[in-house]
Amino acid sequence: MLEHRARELLAEESGGAGAAVASGAAPGRCTLVGEHVDYVGGMVLCCPVDRGVAVALRPSADGRWRLVSAGRRVERPTPEPAGDVGDRAFAAAVVLAARGIRLPALEMAVAADLPEAAGLASSAAVCCAAMVAMLRLAGARLPTGRFVELALAAERDVVGVPCGPLDQAAVVGLPAGGAVLLDCGRGAADVVPWHLETAVLVACDTGETHDVGGAGYRERRAEAEAALRMLGATCVGRIEPCDVAAARLPEPLDRRARHLVTETQRAATAASALAAGDARTLGLLMSASHASLRDDYEVSTPALDAAVGAALAVPGCLGARLVGAGFGGTAIALVDAPAAEGVRMAMKAAVPGSRGAWRLAHAPGLAVTATDVLEG
Ligand code: GLA
Repeated sequence: MLEHRARELLAEESGGAGAAVASGAAPGRCTLVGEHVDYVGGMVLCCPVDRGVAVALRPSADGRWRLVSAGRRVERPTPEPAGDVGDRAFAAAVVLAARGIRLPALEMAVAADLPEAAGLASSAAVCCAAMVAMLRLAGARLPTGRFVELALAAERDVVGVPCGPLDQAAVVGLPAGGAVLLDCGRGAADVVPWHLETAVLVACDTGETHDVGGAGYRERRAEAEAALRMLGATCVGRIEPCDVAAARLPEPLDRRARHLVTETQRAATAASALAAGDARTLGLLMSASHASLRDDYEVSTPALDAAVGAALAVPGCLGARLVGAGFGGTAIALVDAPAAEGVRMAMKAAVPGSRGAWRLAHAPGLAVTATDVLEG
Protein backbone atom coordinates (compact mmCIF):
# COMPACT_ATOMS: atom_id res chain seq x y z
CA MET A 1 0.00 0.00 0.00
CA LEU A 2 1.35 3.41 -1.01
CA GLU A 3 0.60 5.18 2.27
CA HIS A 4 2.45 2.44 4.12
CA ARG A 5 5.47 2.92 1.83
CA ALA A 6 5.43 6.67 2.46
CA ARG A 7 5.29 6.07 6.23
CA GLU A 8 8.20 3.62 6.02
CA LEU A 9 10.21 6.09 3.99
CA LEU A 10 9.62 8.84 6.55
CA ALA A 11 10.72 6.53 9.38
CA GLU A 12 13.88 5.57 7.45
CA GLU A 13 14.77 9.24 7.07
CA SER A 14 15.18 9.53 10.84
CA GLY A 15 16.86 6.18 11.29
CA GLY A 16 13.56 4.77 12.58
CA ALA A 17 13.30 7.36 15.36
CA GLY A 18 10.33 9.37 14.07
CA ALA A 19 7.08 7.73 13.02
CA ALA A 20 4.62 9.46 10.70
CA VAL A 21 1.77 11.19 12.47
CA ALA A 22 -0.53 11.40 9.45
CA SER A 23 -0.66 10.31 5.83
CA GLY A 24 -2.83 10.68 2.76
CA ALA A 25 -3.01 9.31 -0.76
CA ALA A 26 -4.48 10.68 -3.99
CA PRO A 27 -4.97 9.09 -7.41
CA GLY A 28 -3.72 10.39 -10.74
CA ARG A 29 -6.18 11.27 -13.50
CA CYS A 30 -6.72 10.14 -17.04
CA THR A 31 -8.41 12.36 -19.59
CA LEU A 32 -10.47 10.25 -21.98
CA VAL A 33 -11.37 13.14 -24.31
CA GLY A 34 -11.15 16.92 -23.77
CA GLU A 35 -7.52 18.01 -23.66
CA HIS A 36 -6.38 21.65 -23.46
CA VAL A 37 -9.92 22.95 -23.17
CA ASP A 38 -10.27 23.28 -19.38
CA TYR A 39 -8.63 26.73 -19.33
CA VAL A 40 -11.12 28.10 -21.88
CA GLY A 41 -14.26 26.78 -20.20
CA GLY A 42 -14.59 23.60 -22.29
CA MET A 43 -15.87 20.10 -21.51
CA VAL A 44 -13.56 17.31 -20.31
CA LEU A 45 -14.32 13.61 -19.87
CA CYS A 46 -11.87 12.24 -17.31
CA CYS A 47 -11.50 9.87 -14.36
CA PRO A 48 -9.31 9.22 -11.35
CA VAL A 49 -7.03 6.20 -11.95
CA ASP A 50 -5.65 3.24 -10.02
CA ARG A 51 -2.17 4.70 -9.64
CA GLY A 52 -1.33 7.59 -7.39
CA VAL A 53 0.83 9.32 -4.83
CA ALA A 54 1.00 9.07 -1.02
CA VAL A 55 2.44 11.53 1.49
CA ALA A 56 3.35 10.76 5.10
CA LEU A 57 4.24 13.57 7.47
CA ARG A 58 5.08 14.59 11.03
CA PRO A 59 5.91 17.88 12.74
CA SER A 60 9.55 18.78 12.33
CA ALA A 61 11.56 18.95 15.58
CA ASP A 62 13.68 21.94 14.54
CA GLY A 63 11.04 24.02 12.74
CA ARG A 64 12.42 23.38 9.24
CA TRP A 65 10.36 22.08 6.31
CA ARG A 66 11.75 18.88 4.77
CA LEU A 67 10.64 16.49 2.04
CA VAL A 68 12.05 13.33 0.52
CA SER A 69 10.74 11.97 -2.79
CA ALA A 70 12.36 9.35 -5.04
CA GLY A 71 15.78 9.89 -3.50
CA ARG A 72 15.62 13.71 -3.68
CA ARG A 73 15.74 15.66 -0.43
CA VAL A 74 14.83 19.30 0.08
CA GLU A 75 14.84 21.46 3.19
CA ARG A 76 13.95 25.10 3.92
CA PRO A 77 12.82 27.48 6.67
CA THR A 78 9.34 28.21 5.19
CA PRO A 79 6.90 26.31 2.92
CA GLU A 80 7.11 28.91 0.12
CA PRO A 81 8.13 27.54 -3.32
CA ALA A 82 11.83 27.31 -4.11
CA GLY A 83 11.64 25.72 -7.59
CA ASP A 84 12.24 22.16 -6.39
CA VAL A 85 10.47 18.85 -5.70
CA GLY A 86 9.04 20.19 -2.42
CA ASP A 87 6.99 22.97 -4.03
CA ARG A 88 3.64 21.20 -4.65
CA ALA A 89 3.45 19.44 -1.28
CA PHE A 90 4.51 22.52 0.70
CA ALA A 91 2.09 24.71 -1.32
CA ALA A 92 -0.75 22.71 0.26
CA ALA A 93 0.33 24.08 3.67
CA VAL A 94 0.47 27.64 2.28
CA VAL A 95 -3.14 27.54 1.04
CA LEU A 96 -4.41 25.85 4.20
CA ALA A 97 -2.72 28.51 6.35
CA ALA A 98 -4.43 31.24 4.30
CA ARG A 99 -7.71 29.48 5.11
CA GLY A 100 -6.92 29.55 8.83
CA ILE A 101 -5.72 25.92 9.10
CA ARG A 102 -2.27 26.48 10.55
CA LEU A 103 0.29 23.71 10.63
CA PRO A 104 3.68 23.38 12.25
CA ALA A 105 6.76 22.98 10.05
CA LEU A 106 6.59 19.46 8.61
CA GLU A 107 8.82 16.61 7.50
CA MET A 108 7.27 14.71 4.64
CA ALA A 109 7.95 11.61 2.55
CA VAL A 110 6.39 10.92 -0.84
CA ALA A 111 5.81 7.46 -2.36
CA ALA A 112 4.24 7.00 -5.79
CA ASP A 113 3.35 4.40 -8.37
CA LEU A 114 2.16 7.12 -10.76
CA PRO A 115 4.93 8.20 -13.14
CA GLU A 116 6.08 11.76 -12.54
CA ALA A 117 5.57 14.48 -15.17
CA ALA A 118 3.95 11.98 -17.53
CA GLY A 119 0.56 13.54 -18.30
CA LEU A 120 -1.32 11.71 -15.52
CA ALA A 121 -1.53 14.64 -13.08
CA SER A 122 1.20 13.59 -10.66
CA SER A 123 1.55 17.24 -9.56
CA ALA A 124 -2.09 17.54 -8.57
CA ALA A 125 -1.91 14.13 -6.87
CA VAL A 126 1.10 15.16 -4.72
CA CYS A 127 -0.56 18.38 -3.71
CA CYS A 128 -3.91 16.69 -2.94
CA ALA A 129 -2.27 13.81 -1.01
CA ALA A 130 -0.33 16.34 1.07
CA MET A 131 -3.48 18.34 1.72
CA VAL A 132 -5.37 15.23 2.86
CA ALA A 133 -2.52 14.30 5.23
CA MET A 134 -2.35 17.88 6.57
CA LEU A 135 -6.10 18.01 7.20
CA ARG A 136 -5.81 14.70 9.09
CA LEU A 137 -2.95 16.11 11.16
CA ALA A 138 -4.96 19.25 11.94
CA GLY A 139 -8.18 17.29 12.59
CA ALA A 140 -9.93 19.55 10.08
CA ARG A 141 -12.51 18.95 7.31
CA LEU A 142 -13.29 20.89 4.14
CA PRO A 143 -16.27 20.94 1.78
CA THR A 144 -15.27 18.98 -1.35
CA GLY A 145 -15.63 21.97 -3.68
CA ARG A 146 -13.46 24.08 -1.39
CA PHE A 147 -10.78 21.37 -1.32
CA VAL A 148 -10.67 21.40 -5.16
CA GLU A 149 -10.38 25.21 -5.19
CA LEU A 150 -7.56 25.19 -2.63
CA ALA A 151 -5.64 22.45 -4.48
CA LEU A 152 -5.94 24.48 -7.69
CA ALA A 153 -4.84 27.66 -5.89
CA ALA A 154 -1.82 25.80 -4.48
CA GLU A 155 -0.60 24.80 -7.93
CA ARG A 156 -1.68 27.85 -9.91
CA ASP A 157 -1.25 30.74 -7.47
CA VAL A 158 1.42 29.49 -5.05
CA VAL A 159 3.62 27.41 -7.37
CA GLY A 160 2.75 29.55 -10.41
CA VAL A 161 1.79 26.88 -12.96
CA PRO A 162 -0.75 28.31 -15.44
CA CYS A 163 -2.95 25.17 -15.34
CA GLY A 164 -6.72 24.92 -15.71
CA PRO A 165 -9.07 23.23 -13.19
CA LEU A 166 -9.05 19.74 -14.77
CA ASP A 167 -6.50 17.83 -12.71
CA GLN A 168 -7.67 18.77 -9.23
CA ALA A 169 -11.34 18.17 -10.11
CA ALA A 170 -10.52 14.76 -11.61
CA VAL A 171 -8.35 13.64 -8.66
CA VAL A 172 -11.19 14.42 -6.24
CA GLY A 173 -13.79 12.90 -8.59
CA LEU A 174 -17.38 12.34 -7.59
CA PRO A 175 -18.98 10.40 -4.74
CA ALA A 176 -20.60 8.02 -7.21
CA GLY A 177 -17.31 7.10 -8.94
CA GLY A 178 -17.14 6.26 -12.65
CA ALA A 179 -15.95 9.01 -14.97
CA VAL A 180 -16.54 12.74 -14.63
CA LEU A 181 -17.78 15.11 -17.31
CA LEU A 182 -16.46 18.51 -16.29
CA ASP A 183 -18.07 21.59 -17.73
CA CYS A 184 -15.28 24.04 -16.96
CA GLY A 185 -17.37 26.97 -18.20
CA ARG A 186 -20.16 26.41 -15.68
CA GLY A 187 -17.93 24.85 -13.03
CA ALA A 188 -20.16 21.75 -13.06
CA ALA A 189 -19.22 18.08 -12.81
CA ASP A 190 -21.53 15.20 -13.76
CA VAL A 191 -21.11 11.50 -13.12
CA VAL A 192 -20.71 9.40 -16.27
CA PRO A 193 -21.35 5.75 -15.46
CA TRP A 194 -18.53 3.52 -16.69
CA HIS A 195 -20.48 1.10 -18.85
CA LEU A 196 -17.67 -0.49 -20.85
CA GLU A 197 -18.06 -4.25 -20.54
CA THR A 198 -15.06 -5.58 -22.43
CA ALA A 199 -12.90 -2.57 -23.32
CA VAL A 200 -9.93 -1.61 -21.12
CA LEU A 201 -7.29 1.12 -21.08
CA VAL A 202 -3.59 0.59 -21.75
CA ALA A 203 -1.04 3.33 -21.02
CA CYS A 204 2.50 3.81 -22.30
CA ASP A 205 4.82 6.33 -20.63
CA THR A 206 7.12 7.54 -23.42
CA GLY A 207 9.82 8.51 -20.93
CA GLU A 208 9.80 12.08 -22.25
CA THR A 209 8.83 14.10 -19.19
CA HIS A 210 6.74 17.18 -19.79
CA ASP A 211 6.47 20.42 -17.87
CA VAL A 212 3.07 22.06 -17.48
CA GLY A 213 4.84 25.17 -16.20
CA GLY A 214 7.03 25.20 -19.32
CA ALA A 215 7.04 27.45 -22.38
CA GLY A 216 4.95 25.18 -24.65
CA TYR A 217 1.94 25.03 -22.34
CA ARG A 218 2.07 28.77 -21.62
CA GLU A 219 2.26 29.54 -25.34
CA ARG A 220 -0.75 27.34 -26.18
CA ARG A 221 -2.74 28.89 -23.38
CA ALA A 222 -1.93 32.40 -24.62
CA GLU A 223 -2.86 31.39 -28.19
CA ALA A 224 -6.16 29.91 -27.02
CA GLU A 225 -7.05 33.07 -25.13
CA ALA A 226 -6.07 35.26 -28.12
CA ALA A 227 -8.22 33.13 -30.47
CA LEU A 228 -11.21 33.39 -28.14
CA ARG A 229 -10.79 37.17 -27.90
CA MET A 230 -10.82 37.43 -31.71
CA LEU A 231 -13.95 35.28 -31.79
CA GLY A 232 -15.56 37.60 -29.24
CA ALA A 233 -16.12 34.75 -26.77
CA THR A 234 -15.01 34.09 -23.21
CA CYS A 235 -15.92 30.41 -23.20
CA VAL A 236 -15.31 27.83 -25.91
CA GLY A 237 -18.66 26.14 -25.29
CA ARG A 238 -20.52 28.94 -27.04
CA ILE A 239 -18.59 28.67 -30.34
CA GLU A 240 -19.46 26.41 -33.30
CA PRO A 241 -16.93 25.07 -35.84
CA CYS A 242 -18.62 27.18 -38.55
CA ASP A 243 -17.94 30.34 -36.47
CA VAL A 244 -14.23 29.48 -36.47
CA ALA A 245 -14.19 28.88 -40.24
CA ALA A 246 -16.08 32.14 -40.89
CA ALA A 247 -13.80 34.22 -38.64
CA ARG A 248 -10.68 33.57 -40.80
CA LEU A 249 -8.31 33.85 -37.85
CA PRO A 250 -4.61 34.22 -38.64
CA GLU A 251 -2.54 31.02 -38.71
CA PRO A 252 -1.97 29.23 -36.29
CA LEU A 253 -4.84 30.66 -34.22
CA ASP A 254 -7.35 29.25 -36.74
CA ARG A 255 -6.11 25.71 -36.05
CA ARG A 256 -5.83 26.30 -32.32
CA ALA A 257 -9.47 27.50 -32.24
CA ARG A 258 -10.60 24.53 -34.37
CA HIS A 259 -9.05 22.16 -31.83
CA LEU A 260 -10.71 23.92 -28.89
CA VAL A 261 -14.16 23.88 -30.45
CA THR A 262 -14.10 20.35 -31.85
CA GLU A 263 -12.44 18.88 -28.75
CA THR A 264 -15.05 20.21 -26.35
CA GLN A 265 -17.79 18.80 -28.61
CA ARG A 266 -15.98 15.45 -28.80
CA ALA A 267 -15.79 15.30 -24.99
CA ALA A 268 -19.55 15.70 -24.64
CA THR A 269 -20.18 13.02 -27.31
CA ALA A 270 -17.61 10.73 -25.67
CA ALA A 271 -19.47 10.99 -22.35
CA SER A 272 -22.66 9.78 -24.03
CA ALA A 273 -20.73 6.93 -25.68
CA LEU A 274 -19.20 5.84 -22.35
CA ALA A 275 -22.55 5.95 -20.58
CA ALA A 276 -24.12 3.90 -23.40
CA GLY A 277 -21.29 1.34 -23.33
CA ASP A 278 -20.39 2.23 -26.94
CA ALA A 279 -16.64 1.55 -26.83
CA ARG A 280 -16.26 1.74 -30.60
CA THR A 281 -17.50 5.35 -30.76
CA LEU A 282 -15.48 6.31 -27.70
CA GLY A 283 -12.36 4.86 -29.35
CA LEU A 284 -12.95 6.80 -32.57
CA LEU A 285 -13.38 10.02 -30.59
CA MET A 286 -10.13 9.36 -28.71
CA SER A 287 -8.24 8.90 -32.00
CA ALA A 288 -9.85 12.05 -33.43
CA SER A 289 -8.75 13.90 -30.28
CA HIS A 290 -5.17 12.77 -30.85
CA ALA A 291 -5.20 13.88 -34.50
CA SER A 292 -6.49 17.29 -33.45
CA LEU A 293 -3.86 17.65 -30.68
CA ARG A 294 -1.15 16.58 -33.14
CA ASP A 295 -2.15 18.62 -36.20
CA ASP A 296 -4.14 21.61 -34.95
CA TYR A 297 -2.84 22.12 -31.42
CA GLU A 298 0.68 20.79 -32.10
CA VAL A 299 1.38 19.36 -28.65
CA SER A 300 2.28 15.81 -29.68
CA THR A 301 5.79 14.42 -30.15
CA PRO A 302 7.23 11.72 -32.43
CA ALA A 303 7.33 9.29 -29.47
CA LEU A 304 3.66 9.90 -28.60
CA ASP A 305 2.69 9.53 -32.27
CA ALA A 306 4.69 6.30 -32.47
CA ALA A 307 2.95 4.85 -29.38
CA VAL A 308 -0.47 5.83 -30.74
CA GLY A 309 0.31 4.46 -34.22
CA ALA A 310 1.61 1.18 -32.82
CA ALA A 311 -1.50 0.72 -30.68
CA LEU A 312 -3.88 1.45 -33.56
CA ALA A 313 -2.08 -1.10 -35.77
CA VAL A 314 -3.05 -3.95 -33.39
CA PRO A 315 -6.43 -5.56 -34.17
CA GLY A 316 -8.72 -4.95 -31.21
CA CYS A 317 -7.44 -1.44 -30.51
CA LEU A 318 -10.45 0.88 -30.62
CA GLY A 319 -8.67 4.23 -30.30
CA ALA A 320 -5.57 5.91 -28.91
CA ARG A 321 -4.33 9.33 -27.95
CA LEU A 322 -1.85 11.32 -25.94
CA VAL A 323 -3.06 12.16 -22.43
CA GLY A 324 -2.48 15.37 -20.47
CA ALA A 325 -0.72 18.45 -21.75
CA GLY A 326 1.47 16.68 -24.32
CA PHE A 327 5.02 17.80 -25.20
CA GLY A 328 5.96 14.33 -23.91
CA GLY A 329 4.30 12.11 -21.33
CA THR A 330 1.92 9.21 -21.79
CA ALA A 331 -0.22 7.75 -24.59
CA ILE A 332 -3.33 5.72 -23.80
CA ALA A 333 -5.29 3.22 -25.88
CA LEU A 334 -8.82 1.87 -25.54
CA VAL A 335 -8.65 -1.81 -26.31
CA ASP A 336 -10.85 -4.92 -26.44
CA ALA A 337 -9.62 -6.76 -23.33
CA PRO A 338 -8.17 -9.83 -25.17
CA ALA A 339 -5.95 -7.49 -27.24
CA ALA A 340 -4.61 -5.58 -24.22
CA GLU A 341 -1.34 -7.44 -23.82
CA GLY A 342 -0.58 -7.20 -27.56
CA VAL A 343 -1.24 -3.45 -27.53
CA ARG A 344 0.83 -2.99 -24.38
CA MET A 345 3.82 -4.73 -25.97
CA ALA A 346 3.41 -2.93 -29.30
CA MET A 347 3.32 0.50 -27.67
CA LYS A 348 6.35 -0.18 -25.52
CA ALA A 349 8.33 -1.60 -28.46
CA ALA A 350 7.52 1.49 -30.56
CA VAL A 351 9.07 3.86 -27.99
CA PRO A 352 12.66 2.89 -27.15
CA GLY A 353 12.88 5.34 -24.20
CA SER A 354 9.60 4.18 -22.61
CA ARG A 355 9.51 4.01 -18.81
CA GLY A 356 6.82 1.30 -19.05
CA ALA A 357 3.42 0.29 -20.42
CA TRP A 358 0.60 -1.11 -18.28
CA ARG A 359 -3.15 -1.64 -17.93
CA LEU A 360 -4.69 1.51 -16.48
CA ALA A 361 -8.07 1.38 -14.72
CA HIS A 362 -10.46 4.01 -13.46
CA ALA A 363 -10.63 4.19 -9.66
CA PRO A 364 -12.47 6.12 -6.95
CA GLY A 365 -11.30 9.66 -6.30
CA LEU A 366 -10.86 11.48 -2.99
CA ALA A 367 -14.60 12.19 -2.80
CA VAL A 368 -14.91 8.44 -2.09
CA THR A 369 -11.62 7.60 -0.34
CA ALA A 370 -11.11 10.64 1.92
CA THR A 371 -14.56 11.27 3.39
CA ASP A 372 -12.96 11.76 6.83
CA VAL A 373 -11.57 15.11 5.63
CA LEU A 374 -13.94 15.97 2.75
CA GLU A 375 -17.59 16.70 3.30
CA GLY A 376 -20.54 17.30 1.01
C1 GLA B 1 -2.36 19.81 -17.64
C2 GLA B 1 -3.03 20.94 -16.88
C3 GLA B 1 -4.55 20.85 -17.03
C4 GLA B 1 -4.96 20.73 -18.50
C5 GLA B 1 -4.15 19.63 -19.19
C6 GLA B 1 -4.42 19.56 -20.66
O1 GLA B 1 -2.65 18.58 -17.03
O2 GLA B 1 -2.70 20.89 -15.51
O3 GLA B 1 -5.15 21.98 -16.44
O4 GLA B 1 -4.85 21.95 -19.17
O5 GLA B 1 -2.76 19.80 -18.99
O6 GLA B 1 -5.73 19.15 -20.90
